[in-house]
Amino acid sequence: MDKLQIADNTYQLSVNIENMLFEGVWEMPEGVSLNSYIIKGDKTAIVDGFCGWDGVPETLFSLFDELGITVDEVEYLIVNHMEPDHSGWIEAFRKINQNFKIICSDKAKALLETFYGHTENVTVVKDGDSLDLGQGHVVKFVSIPNVHWPDTMASFDEKTGVLFSCDAFGAFGKLGKEKYAEDITAEEMEVALKETVRYYSNILASFTMAVKKAVSKCSQLPVKLVAPGHGLMWREPKKIMDFYDALADYQKGVARKELVFLWSSMYGMTEKAVRFVESVLAKEDIKVTMLNVPEASWGTILGATWTATGVILAMPTYEYKMFPPMAAALEELGRKRVLGRKAFRFGSYGWSGGAQKELDEIMTRLSMNWEFLEPVEFAGSPREEDFIILEQRVKELVAQVKEIGVES
Ligand code: FEO
Repeated sequence: MDKLQIADNTYQLSVNIENMLFEGVWEMPEGVSLNSYIIKGDKTAIVDGFCGWDGVPETLFSLFDELGITVDEVEYLIVNHMEPDHSGWIEAFRKINQNFKIICSDKAKALLETFYGHTENVTVVKDGDSLDLGQGHVVKFVSIPNVHWPDTMASFDEKTGVLFSCDAFGAFGKLGKEKYAEDITAEEMEVALKETVRYYSNILASFTMAVKKAVSKCSQLPVKLVAPGHGLMWREPKKIMDFYDALADYQKGVARKELVFLWSSMYGMTEKAVRFVESVLAKEDIKVTMLNVPEASWGTILGATWTATGVILAMPTYEYKMFPPMAAALEELGRKRVLGRKAFRFGSYGWSGGAQKELDEIMTRLSMNWEFLEPVEFAGSPREEDFIILEQRVKELVAQVKEIGVES
């Protein structure tokens, strides 16, 4: 666990987690950091917390000594959000400090009881309420529901200008020595932004409307430092707020001038067409992310599709329906509300088609509003005439994406 003073009487404690699935489903190839914060006014508060996957609370308590804090003087836990990655340590903490008070939203209060049976010394705060910790540290609470759970709020210290933003403005990716976005190299920033996209698309995508509102609300505060529950802190709040705002805007369809090419093949027949299309795309000046389904994880597929204006789908028919892993991936894209893409599908069939019928059903049921070019289906292996049409369609899709996509 690392500790760092980030403002007057204000400290960050962070720990990196690797080799686990977030929410039990999302892989994190670069890990994730859990960030917690301590404000030490006349009274001491911990903002956000840890989970229990991370060796906390033992390591946390050893750091208190170094900060000149005794466990008993922690008077408040400000619970911005009850998801156990932030709250899982509360019960362990209760074993060594029976007198702390929890500050949280009304929805979090209900979760405290159902998750941990914790009902005592809980103060519910509303949007605009504040808590005076002394020495000028007045912490104002900013309701940002559904970023990512209904209980979520941010906390803003009016003295230091630190916005403890919880899941908002967060990212996957472990933290290195540098904890501020402004202090890392350009190469590290490239990874950090990619991990921000992965986090957004995997964790927050379904709540994009709420994210838009939260960005607007937080951008009106005089924020000097964004201190999220995961990932880097930002001394230039506008940068991460604008980045989040852009990610939210990608939901409805006009995203970057990029293509994602999701493909599956059982016996190599659809793959023959995939390799041909790949060679066509190689001659086009456009970023393409090719991902095999099911080899690529859902999280990777979501991240690449979230930023792409165009989608190419290649899959065979399987038992009168779509190749099942592709159907599952598309269902997940629909549930995360990846909408309004420009798209094109092709694939092989054996004795009959069926993939297209299931694709149409998924698109309709999940109201995905993708606009497809006419599909190309071929019996068995693709033939010369199929390649000619495939090239035409792919070039048409590339032209559409170049015309409407935004620069990243
Ligand atoms: Fe970082 Fe929604 O938990």
